[in-house]
Amino acid sequence: MARHIAFLTSGGDAPGMNAAIRAVVRTSIYHGARITGIASGFKGLLAGEFKSLDLGSVADIIHRGGTILRTARSPEFMTDTGQKKAVQRLRAYGIDGLIVIGGEGSLHGALALEEKGVATIGVPATIDNDVAATDYTIGFDTAVNTALEAINKIRDTATSHGRVFLIEVMGRHSGEIALASGLAGGAETILVPGEKIDLQAIIDKIYQGRRRGKLHNIIIVAEGAGSALELADTIKLKTGIETRVTILGHIQRGGTPTAFDRILASRMGAKAVEALVDGQRSKMTAIAGQEIKLVSLHEALNKPRELNREIYELAGVLSI
Ligand code: F6P
Repeated sequence: MARHIAFLTSGGDAPGMNAAIRAVVRTSIYHGARITGIASGFKGLLAGEFKSLDLGSVADIIHRGGTILRTARSPEFMTDTGQKKAVQRLRAYGIDGLIVIGGEGSLHGALALEEKGVATIGVPATIDNDVAATDYTIGFDTAVNTALEAINKIRDTATSHGRVFLIEVMGRHSGEIALASGLAGGAETILVPGEKIDLQAIIDKIYQGRRRGKLHNIIIVAEGAGSALELADTIKLKTGIETRVTILGHIQRGGTPTAFDRILASRMGAKAVEALVDGQRSKMTAIAGQEIKLVSLHEALNKPRELNREIYELAGVLSI
């Protein structure tokens, strides 16, 4: 049963991380545990950037994007020596439970510390939604809505000019943002990592749309699916239709979190603390339907997240 909990945010920031921070701090205090925040992720852990937090230190942050604890990617922590140093730091500070809030890479870091003897709970937070064993990760819903807002605006100008637009969304290894924003945004084509790009099918769809009077075409390209710029050039060359590319980039990582992400983060942050207070370890918080659960951290990280084929195929059917 943990009495002194430390926690950190790591990897790419995700909207809703602050709501999770607030929940972790307040739930710990509610249960009478001491709570320490570690600044700048695993990098700050190695540097000993610990600070005690109280109820007031997390006031007025639930609606803010980013992470007040800051975040980082740490090559030193990826090494065995780095991880042993991290364990020593935690022991020296009297920490008996750790919560890691972050994406897949950060959760692997959490598992490494767990395997070196630190009682650890992971909270999945990444706009990529690429963690198996949870329906959603914190930040995904906000990122999808940010992408969608941009798609709506681009659609106006695409129609006015009769252009084909390729919109690149984030996701180096994940097509989740592309799939969700593409379906919600009525895109004609959605390109995701791991799926073959069928140029002829894309072109046929453009012509098919034009024949029935469609004035624009929206193609959503996940970052890891291929080069939107090259594809745009090829489409222009083959069809003669004007193409444009918009890369949404880091705008998708910022901004005020949606209600969904704030609620998810609040519930997951509280669940992580309750797990440690309860003497549990080596778990990840997850949402399945309406329920917040604890799943094995090891198992969550050792199975790939499958693309939702039903949504992928539906997007194709609805854009004929
Ligand atoms: O956090 C996930 C993510 O936003 C990916 O979608 C993207 O590929 C990557 O991080 C970008 O990382 P960085 O901010 O380090 O450039």
